Amino acid sequence: MASRPLFPPSAVDLNREAVLATVSLRRLGKSYGAVEVVKAIDCEINDGEFVVLVGPSGCGKSTTLRMIAGLEPISSGEVRIGERLVNALPPRERDVAMVFQDYALYPHKTVYENMAFSLRMRGTPKDEIRPRVAEAAAMLGIEALLERRPSQLSGGQRQRVAMGRAIVRRPQVFLFDEPLSNLDAKLRGQVRAEIKKLHQTIGTTTVYVTHDQVEAMTMADRIVIMRDGSIEQDGTPDELYNQPASTFVAGFIGAPAMNFVDVTIENGHARLSSGERLPLGPRYGSVATKAEGKAAILGIRPEHFQPAERSSQRLSGTVQIVEPLGSDTLVHLEIAGGTLTARLPPEARPSVGETIEVGIDADKPHLFDVETGRALV
Ligand SMILES: Nc1ncnc2c1ncn2[C@@H]1O[C@H](COP(=O)(O)OP(=O)(O)OP(=O)(O)O)[C@@H](O)[C@H]1O
Ligand SMILES: [Mg+2]
Repeated sequence: MASRPLFPPSAVDLNREAVLATVSLRRLGKSYGAVEVVKAIDCEINDGEFVVLVGPSGCGKSTTLRMIAGLEPISSGEVRIGERLVNALPPRERDVAMVFQDYALYPHKTVYENMAFSLRMRGTPKDEIRPRVAEAAAMLGIEALLERRPSQLSGGQRQRVAMGRAIVRRPQVFLFDEPLSNLDAKLRGQVRAEIKKLHQTIGTTTVYVTHDQVEAMTMADRIVIMRDGSIEQDGTPDELYNQPASTFVAGFIGAPAMNFVDVTIENGHARLSSGERLPLGPRYGSVATKAEGKAAILGIRPEHFQPAERSSQRLSGTVQIVEPLGSDTLVHLEIAGGTLTARLPPEARPSVGETIEVGIDADKPHLFDVETGRALV
């Protein structure tokens, strides 16, 4: 292993040495018997990058993370950390630290001992262990809890101890597997911000697994969306939001989710089954002509609707549900051939059963292929 100073001048410099902590997954695969659960994925994670792996349950996120950690044997392909091929290395030699969903703390050890344990196992001198635990505890604001046992802590405090245990090791790479899913919504938001701040401070390369798209959008430098063991799309949060490659990505990123409406492309317009037509402007390039006469899926985000008077492009629908959120109002509409959700200004208060018109931001809707679900623009 490349040598790194045990005592960097300050926490800010923790990982600022010459070692490039990149993670490369090359044709990485995992099979259980005949079932391939990770299918030859390629992914390059840069030094210092915070990458979030997202996707629905069972798509292979934890399996991928566990293969990086060395907790799961690899069936095919390569995992490299920095320059090293680590396929055959046991977890403790990979210089990674993993934080699990259930924290996996030692119940009979104190917080201090939980954090110090892995350093002790590695033979770190005693007089170095104490300042390192103290430093990590200070970063996480758990200095006052060091003598307690896990059973005497709240969920959020346990979660911080689990992170502290990873931080004291000063690994090249942090791996997180749904670390916030056992916390209530408010605490989740708070710890989410803390993890982000921590990354901004120490800059350690991080791979973070979640199925929560809000966590993915708010924390990631880059998001990797997995589906059925493959990577569906990989990009910055803005790229995935603005240019989703498929209906799968489009429906996954953004809340409430994008609305999908069946349309036919006709004379430079998307025609709904109601007969209403939305013009396809310059953004759609040659799609309007190439797909003339064909069926397509129109994708409209809830936030791309507006009060009818503000737009000449409109759709009409029957109000089914009105959800005032304070900041804005979600209106669920029944339209010909489906339902959709529109995010309207807070003062919008249509009555249930009423037929209303909503405006649509020109050039915002997406178009997808009916058969493949791939984006047409
Ligand atoms: N030991 C095993 N034997 C057989 N199949 C397994 C085993 N472990 C996991 N799998 C299967 O591999 C697939 C991927 O599992 P994985 O735990 O990576 O999913 P995930 O994306 O982390 O899902 P979740 O969001 O539910 O945690 C699943 O279909 C799962 O059933
Ligand atoms: Mg999982």
